[in-house]
Amino acid sequence: MEKIRVQAPAKVNLHLAVGERRPDGFHGLESIFLALAFGDTVQLEMMPGKKMPEIVMEGEETPFEPIPPEENIVFRAISLFGNRTGFTRGIRAIVEKRIPPGGGLGGGSSDAAAALLALNSLAGGPLEAAALAEIGASLGSDVPFFLARTAAAWVSGRGEHVQPVSVPVHALALLHWVLVNPGFSSGTGTAFRLLDEFRDSGAPQARFLPKEALLGALTTHPASWPFFNDFLPAFLDNSGTNGAVYREILAQLVELGADFTGLSGSGSTCFGVFGEEEAARTAEKSLATVWPFVKTTEILKTSLCIKNCLRSE
Ligand code: C5P
Repeated sequence: MEKIRVQAPAKVNLHLAVGERRPDGFHGLESIFLALAFGDTVQLEMMPGKKMPEIVMEGEETPFEPIPPEENIVFRAISLFGNRTGFTRGIRAIVEKRIPPGGGLGGGSSDAAAALLALNSLAGGPLEAAALAEIGASLGSDVPFFLARTAAAWVSGRGEHVQPVSVPVHALALLHWVLVNPGFSSGTGTAFRLLDEFRDSGAPQARFLPKEALLGALTTHPASWPFFNDFLPAFLDNSGTNGAVYREILAQLVELGADFTGLSGSGSTCFGVFGEEEAARTAEKSLATVWPFVKTTEILKTSLCIKNCLRSE
């Protein structure tokens, strides 16, 4: 087996509660992650005679600057895998990029998880899930979710505790999600610092809602969802963080008929949830005249398999 293609789905955080800053600098969080039926594709192939990983970024134009290969998270994933296993044969990774980078949709993390799974398979499976998850967590807090290949999960800790949740197919899976990215990226570290400052300045403190109540709400109508994203009030409050842009997008989504609106991750992508596909498509068309990236999608209904999804050629 010399070549493997793996799906790298995007995610949304339907709910994201952020706790206090911990002594290790990270924040405890409680989040509902949903994988989307939209994303990147990562193809790995052996390159006999080469040593350094080669990363090729392909796909639709994004409004963002390209980054040097060594800073690419897929490059780092392949290097870490090599250090851990001694598997250092030449690898070329071709990433078909559709997910806007730095947009809170987990694009880089999903690419890294896909690369680790593909590489482990190419190498004959030297690492168990726990070892892959350990490498994944060192690459980024969202990577463990994507390694779990689950369609939905309750995620806690700093992101490393991933508890798969079954998707209510007659509720959540029927909805239409309109993603709107305003054309700028949002740095994760900066967003957490801003949230700390916001709370230090007297804003409401961290609060975690009971997990059972939140998971139970997945089967209810979006108009009554209790979900929130702790970053959003901090962004809206701060004129230096594009608060006006988020306010505008969210208002437009409501105006166009969204039953629920939110922000994914630490930004910058907002989303609106629609019951009717036609309303979602109409909203998508209208928003696409204003914002550089607008996409209607659904959530994945079933877990992503690992073995059968790895196509060898
Ligand atoms: O893990 P990731 O690379 O996504 O994190 C980037 C930065 O975001 C971390 O260095 C940390 O400052 C912040 N972070 C955090 N708490 C988390 C996840 C990330 O404070 N749970």
